Amino acid sequence: METLIPTINRLQEVFLTVGAEVIQLPQIVVVGCQSSGKSSVLESLVGRDFLPRGSGIVTRRPLVLQLINVPPMTERLKIENGIKAEEWGTFLHCKNQIFTDFNEVRHEIEVETDRTSGENKGINPEPIYLKIFSPKVLNLTLVDLPGITKVPVGDQPEDIETQVQEMILSFISNPNSLILAVSPANLDLATSDALKLAREVDPDGRRTLLVVSKLDLMDAGTDALEVLLGRVIPVRLGIIGVVNRSQHDINTQKSLEDSLKNEHAFLQRHYPSLASRAGSRYLAKTLSRLLMHHIRDCLPELKTRVTVLSAQYQAQLNGYGQPVEDHSATLLQIVTKFASDYCSTIEGTARHIQTSELCGGARMCY
Ligand code: GDP
Ligand code: NA
Ligand code: MG
Repeated sequence: METLIPTINRLQEVFLTVGAEVIQLPQIVVVGCQSSGKSSVLESLVGRDFLPRGSGIVTRRPLVLQLINVPPMTERLKIENGIKAEEWGTFLHCKNQIFTDFNEVRHEIEVETDRTSGENKGINPEPIYLKIFSPKVLNLTLVDLPGITKVPVGDQPEDIETQVQEMILSFISNPNSLILAVSPANLDLATSDALKLAREVDPDGRRTLLVVSKLDLMDAGTDALEVLLGRVIPVRLGIIGVVNRSQHDINTQKSLEDSLKNEHAFLQRHYPSLASRAGSRYLAKTLSRLLMHHIRDCLPELKTRVTVLSAQYQAQLNGYGQPVEDHSATLLQIVTKFASDYCSTIEGTARHIQTSELCGGARMCY
């Protein structure tokens, strides 16, 4: 898995270099009502505090977040690169700035959001692009989105509900998107707007995973066992319960590490039979596995596009009639390497997955 995605990323860089249309990579998109816990779920997947979170509309522009696994840096390399930290972020809108303080990453997202969407709750469909480099992350592209909302507040337009829905649909209708539908445990799942939107673009549930947040906020005497077991609404790819940090935890700056411990203890106490198939860590593992299956499914189309492009370049080269740098050769080399890397990775992982599914992993249709 981890070796597969850098290959895809390299492939994308080559496409960029030759000025071709960028391939739409598989990405994980969070969808849900406002304050269902989308940004919190993403943060725990990343293992870093860096997203604006809170009650009300906080996320007001799509955030496309590319996590890039890098090897731990030696002291010498750090000095050579002028980087003092193990982990850092960069934004597309300020390319030359390296952020090593994740509070500053959050601040930059807020400033950039205000710059285009105003300071009074306005929304904007133009994504913010953020890359995070770290030895501790899985290679994933994640998209944080504004939540589904019904009633306009502040500078929001009358048709805020439609606008947000369209923004969400533009990301999740991409067949290369895995949909992470986030629905709080204290709301009736049958009314979940997240699942409803996901069904619109993925009626067979082939690329939708349900995350049930706020397990800790259920009424006394109720629990989410039936929901988590898929007996209320079955979700083909799986249903995973999580406990994120509460607003009080945010206010008192509870660390993510403590929060994960807290989540683990909560699950052991309240859902002992499900504890090994719930929680933020299990979610991260499931996602990377799904992403790999997804890439496998997308490969034929990827190959077709590359073939078409390389034919176009060949035609262009022929048209020039004189020697120029041969980009198509580079492309073909990379694609060939990609295909062979891909096959060996898939074979190894397929074996691994078959075994782990027999042992009761998430139900998947891939
Ligand atoms: P978003 O609007 O969907 O991105 O939601 P946020 O991640 O910004 O969270 C909204 C609010 O719900 C914040 O105050 C969070 O602290 C709180 N919250 C999110 N998930 C949980 C959870 O699992 N348990 C509790 N107690 N609070 C949560
Ligand atoms: Na919110
Ligand atoms: Mg949010």
